[in-house]
Amino acid sequence: MESSNASYSRLRELYVPRGLGLTHPVTITHGLGEIVYDADGNSYIDFTSGIGVTILGHSNPELIESAISSLRSLWHICIMVANYPSYLELARELSEHIPMSGSKKVLFFNSGAEAVENAVKVVRAYTRRPYIISFIGAFHGRTTLALALTGKYKPYKKRFEPLATHIVKVPYPYCYRLRARDEDECVDIVMNSLELLVDVDLSPEVIAGAIIEPIQGEGGFIVPPKRFLKELEGFLKKRDIPVIIDEVQTGYCRTGKFMAFEHFNIDPDIVVLGKAIANGLPLSAIVGRASILDVMDPGMVGGTYGGNPVASTVALKVLEIVKRDKICVRAEKLGEYIAKRLDELVDKYEVIGEHRGLGAMRALEFVKNKKTREPNPEIVLRIIEEARKRGLLLLKAGYYDNVIRFHPPLVIQFENLEKAMNIFEESLREATKST
Ligand SMILES: Cc1ncc(COP(=O)(O)O)c(C=O)c1O
Repeated sequence: MESSNASYSRLRELYVPRGLGLTHPVTITHGLGEIVYDADGNSYIDFTSGIGVTILGHSNPELIESAISSLRSLWHICIMVANYPSYLELARELSEHIPMSGSKKVLFFNSGAEAVENAVKVVRAYTRRPYIISFIGAFHGRTTLALALTGKYKPYKKRFEPLATHIVKVPYPYCYRLRARDEDECVDIVMNSLELLVDVDLSPEVIAGAIIEPIQGEGGFIVPPKRFLKELEGFLKKRDIPVIIDEVQTGYCRTGKFMAFEHFNIDPDIVVLGKAIANGLPLSAIVGRASILDVMDPGMVGGTYGGNPVASTVALKVLEIVKRDKICVRAEKLGEYIAKRLDELVDKYEVIGEHRGLGAMRALEFVKNKKTREPNPEIVLRIIEEARKRGLLLLKAGYYDNVIRFHPPLVIQFENLEKAMNIFEESLREATKST
């Protein structure tokens, strides 16, 4: 029987391909709230939330209860075979709770990538046009259509061609890297290239939709200037091009609002949800205008497991807790504290290029020096290792893997938040000593 980190690592080496990346070479056996425990008995504050998923913490007792009650009544029937309550009730709840105008309909899937693919299928069927616009640096998943939408070649797309066709890209308003003089110039650079793409290289009559993360997640928590999404929406709506907002990583209060797009005062045509929706059970969704989703004939979309009864039941409970416990307000407060601590570090360290974020979605971008802005992925790896040694699990991100993102469960207790930020600071100090 395996029982230690080392013996499980050996199993992984023997039976799991190298292509599956690994941030932390430890084996997590259980978790409680914001703390996880490894096979050697070490405990860690979890600042990964399993990549932005477990917003309500590990082993949440209310979620366990709702999962058990569903397991006792119905494991599976498939929504294409018969109705079941949790699928339909969750569809109603989400359509009422996502702040989009007009009547909405909802479809459930298993992963973010699968939901993204279906959003693209739907807008193509609706508009009967082929092209989709996405953004450089975006991450939309790892199936071959989602990869084609993803705007980073290594490691995601390397050697996996051919990918889906008829995807075109423009830069995201990543003002720090575009080296724009100010936010207005940054937005103008992007909007000008979009206009050339849409009106010159292509034509609106062949564009089925545009998909965008309201804040790029894997890209390194890049927050666009306030005016950008509104302007983008206006540009696309004027040309009758549907807007798909990918909220897989940003949704469910991470930014202090239920949906990140609410910060930008826009009204999307389709919203893609995943990750936090069932706090870790596999579930994703698209919520879209009924007029768009209803163009498909019966049988055109579906899947065996999408909206599984256990995942849907838990998702209903997640939504109830998010509302009851004002999780978005909590995220805002956590974010204020994290931001304050990170702001204190920016001027002290030559290797910190930028602190950015919205609500509890916070990140630091690391560079070799502030002037050249040359990416520094090496220091990121060192900090992550130092932090793990001290009991904190962190995640990297970024176009150049040179960003540390802070992804705590949104229910984290304040003492542990403070402790985690102290560990982070100590780890940063230690990692920069050896440079
Ligand atoms: C914005 C965004 N979209 C889609 C995905 C893909 O989700 P999944 O890994 O569940 O397929 C991710 C995953 O990180 C994501 O961050």
